[in-house]
Amino acid sequence: MIRALIVPLVAVLAATSVSAAQAKPAEPVQPAVDAARAQDLAKQHACFGCHAVDKKLVGPAYRDVAARYAGKPGALATLVAHVQNGTSGGWGAVPMPPNQISTADAQTVVQWILAGSRSN
Ligand code: HEC
Repeated sequence: MIRALIVPLVAVLAATSVSAAQAKPAEPVQPAVDAARAQDLAKQHACFGCHAVDKKLVGPAYRDVAARYAGKPGALATLVAHVQNGTSGGWGAVPMPPNQISTADAQTVVQWILAGSRSN
C-alpha cells in the first residue's frame, strides 16, 4: 500500500528535477542589455531624431545595423567610435555628425542596437 504511493511519488520527483535542470537558462555570454536605460539614453541624445528601430529615417534602421554587424568581431568598439566621432559613407550620402555622448553611455546604446533593439 505504502509502496504503491511512494513509487509514483518518486517518479514525479525525478521527472520534476529533470525538467527543472533542462529549463535552466544557458549562461549568458554577455551581461543582459538594459533596454530601458539604452532607450532613455538614445532619447536624451536625440538618436531617435535620425534613427528608428525598424525603418530608415535620416540614418539606417537599428535592425539593419544589427544585421550588418552580426558576428563581426570588434563591432561594439567600431560603432561606439562612429557614434562619438561621426561617420560617413557606410549607408548612403548623409553623414552622421559627432554625438556628445560618453563612451559608457554609447556602449549601452550600441549593445542594445547590436542585440536587436528590443523594447524591454
Ligand atoms: C543628425 C542625424 C543623426 C543623429 C542625431 C544620430 N545619427 Fe546615427 N547615423 C546617422 C546617419 C546618416 C548614419 C549613416 C552614416 C553612414 O552612411 O556611414 C548613422 C549611422 C549610425 C550607426 C551605424 C554606423 C556604422 O558605421 O555602420 C549607428 C550605430 C548609429 N548611427 C547610432 C546612433 C546613435 C546611438 C545616436 C545617438 C547618440 C545617433 N546615431 C545619432 C544619422 C544620425
